Amino acid sequence: MKVSILGTGKMGSAVGRQLASAGWDIVYGSRDPDANKGKYAEFENITVTTYPDAAAASDTVLIAVPWAYALDLLQTLANPLKGKIVVDMTNPLSPDISYLVVGGADSAAERVSAQLPESQVVKAFNAITADNFPTPSASGEPAQVFYCSDHDEAKQAARQLIEATGYVPKDCGALSNARYVEAMAMLWLQLAFWEDKGSEWAFKIVEK
Ligand SMILES: NC(=O)c1ccc[n+]([C@@H]2O[C@H](COP(=O)([O-])OP(=O)(O)OC[C@H]3O[C@@H](n4cnc5c(N)ncnc54)[C@H](OP(=O)(O)O)[C@@H]3O)[C@@H](O)[C@H]2O)c1
Repeated sequence: MKVSILGTGKMGSAVGRQLASAGWDIVYGSRDPDANKGKYAEFENITVTTYPDAAAASDTVLIAVPWAYALDLLQTLANPLKGKIVVDMTNPLSPDISYLVVGGADSAAERVSAQLPESQVVKAFNAITADNFPTPSASGEPAQVFYCSDHDEAKQAARQLIEATGYVPKDCGALSNARYVEAMAMLWLQLAFWEDKGSEWAFKIVEK
């Protein structure tokens, strides 16, 4: 299995290293591939290239760049991302990480989908933290990753990715539900960093 990840920061690196450890081939997109190659030197199955080459390299592409730069970047990649599954991991955070700059009857995922109308967008991995890789568990059990999309094929790809990283996938319905999954991420950040709960916890859907 092969996926591309746009961005070699904290979250992209955490997810990519976990997938690479599970045997997946990872192609990172980066503004400066040469400067970032060394981060993954221990993995023979990770390569780092430019954003356009990474977007072209795989049928499934994960977005792991800050929201402030995401739409401009995706605008340049609409062509290579045509017909592909795009996994949106972003949260539309304010510069000081204290509130969401997109919300209400809108979400980052819906804006990504509007930017890439010929791609199948799925929201996933946004309401967990890079801090909890590579042991994605809470209270001794694998933590849950919420995902939502309007495309069955994209949901299937998200489930497969989530399971490969060691988490439990939870289907959260239509892409418009990203409005609420992104708000959960904001609640997580508020509790973790503004109310000193720390990062050793995750949300869980429990069923009767
Ligand atoms: N950190 C988490 O725990 C976490 C959890 C859930 C979701 N997320 C979401 O995942 C996304 C990435 O978060 P992160 O924590 O990995 O961020 P980060 O550590 O700051 O890394 C973001 C990466 O984006 C790339 N990038 C592209 N254009 C950029 C620009 N103009 N300025 C700065 N960076 C640029 C950079 O990679 P190159 O230098 O290789 O281009 C950079 O390393 C965000 O949308 C965030 O909300 C993060």
